[in-house]
Amino acid sequence: MTSKDATRDLFFQQDSEIQIRKHVERSLEIALSFLKQESNNKIHSDLSLPDLEALFHEVEIPALGLGVEKALKQSVEKVVKHSVHVSDPRYIGHMTGATPTFHMGLELLIAAMNQNVVKIETALSGSFVEGQLLAWIHRLIFNKHSDYYKARMHKPELCFGNVTGGGTMGNLTALAVARNKKIPRCRDWGIFEALERMGKRKVGIYASKRVHYSIRKAASVLGFGTQSVHEIPVIPFTNQIDIAALERVLTQHQAQGILPLVIVGVAGSTETGSADDFMALSALAQRSGAWFHVDAAWGGPLLLCEQGRTLLKGIELADSVVMDGHKLFSIPMAQGMVLFKDESALDVLRHSARYIIRAGSVDLGRTSLEGSRRFDSFKLWFAFWALGRKGYSQLVEHSLQLGQTFAKLIETSQTFQLTSEVKSNIVTWRYVPARWKARLDSLRASMLQNKSESARDSTLQQLTALLNEATVEIQKIQRQNGKSFVSRTTLESVLPGFDTVVFRAVLFHPLTSSQTLTEVLSEQKDIGQSVMARLWPRFETQLPGWDSPTLDATEN
Ligand SMILES: Cc1ncc(COP(=O)(O)O)c(C=O)c1O
Repeated sequence: MTSKDATRDLFFQQDSEIQIRKHVERSLEIALSFLKQESNNKIHSDLSLPDLEALFHEVEIPALGLGVEKALKQSVEKVVKHSVHVSDPRYIGHMTGATPTFHMGLELLIAAMNQNVVKIETALSGSFVEGQLLAWIHRLIFNKHSDYYKARMHKPELCFGNVTGGGTMGNLTALAVARNKKIPRCRDWGIFEALERMGKRKVGIYASKRVHYSIRKAASVLGFGTQSVHEIPVIPFTNQIDIAALERVLTQHQAQGILPLVIVGVAGSTETGSADDFMALSALAQRSGAWFHVDAAWGGPLLLCEQGRTLLKGIELADSVVMDGHKLFSIPMAQGMVLFKDESALDVLRHSARYIIRAGSVDLGRTSLEGSRRFDSFKLWFAFWALGRKGYSQLVEHSLQLGQTFAKLIETSQTFQLTSEVKSNIVTWRYVPARWKARLDSLRASMLQNKSESARDSTLQQLTALLNEATVEIQKIQRQNGKSFVSRTTLESVLPGFDTVVFRAVLFHPLTSSQTLTEVLSEQKDIGQSVMARLWPRFETQLPGWDSPTLDATEN
């Protein structure tokens, strides 16, 4: 493809229809083949990372175009074949997954319209879609009267929140508002001078050890430094923030003249799905004068069902809440939201320019940190119309049910140990040899009562080292086998004093079933036995009194 005319013909003209249909049909064919996993029935491609990297070796922009058909063919070989099958029901390792099939068509529409929702002159109806979506989500959290929303939903001077590129941008926005609210004139003077005039040198941002790293990122971007984020221990096993520990830190910091800026609660923590005690956090925020933010990027959609509302009780006390569309709402990448209880809170980030977002306009860019933005709100707005509250509540109830089913399968198995309490839809566990399980369970129970003694126990250190190594290996082998995918993380809250490597499943695929979960465990059990047989000789002498785990091979 070289001629100027051929390039121009790629843009829409009244007679482009045949060409567009051809491209769309071909892309659809490729998409369906990808979804059916026709080229490879594995979740991950077999190609090693170095081999994959080698596919992208050219350092020059192609001088001449291949033309659309050849470029598509090449993309299938280089890209599509080596993309991850996140929509497979056996892919249960992360928060990215399957989306309802109508989104493929919707993405086409979004691309065709190519709205830029930064301003009404490039979005028009899109601006109102976003305003309405934000009002719906605000109501889901803060639950004000319908008249309240009718009167405010599309007012230029008010704003319930922003649609963002995801949870990270949402958390950054919430913390930027907290900063500008709690440190007067910070926006004009900058934090050094504004803090100095308050007689302060440091601020504190408080969250549990389960907090998502985007909070640390936001703290550093906003000029406070990552050290301003104080990670408070969690209650072992439940993974909820230790309220008494937070209270002690706040008292200490206030005595030291540190400004308590933000208290962050987590609604569905990334690693364990835990939810903090929002009532207690809100009371502490009020007492200390801190902003109260809840990161519900994962767990927010649980508000659509009764059980979820109970779990997230008190979330409505937050000053700001982040919730993602591209996680539990099953919307394609990328779409998140940040909501503010007070619809004038975003005033502290308001901007204007001479050519757009003029004073008094309803341009969505008036309060967003991002500039040009895709019309991503359309996807969740449409999905609400298509599925309704009912459809979504069924989806989130299924995810909670999967959490309970999996927890039970693990607890009743001979070879696995549950490593965190399951209140929602994220489960962590580890492989333990059958003949050690009862002993390890009672060890954990006694350790939770007397942590300091056990942390010094060298046998326990060796045991943890062995099981950690086994967990890493089992997870890698299972991923390479490609029949299913679970992720892994390291938690300090399993056995006090020990960092424990655990498997992690994020359960929300509507087609994941208890059969899927049984198969995941069954494969892990087989891999676990061979991994243990390999590792045991290295640890045997350091673990006197512990039977060889290889004896499990003959057991059920
Ligand atoms: C609790 C929580 N907050 C924030 C984020 C960041 O979201 P994103 O990756 O959409 O920026 C995540 C991502 O996993 C998360 O789990």
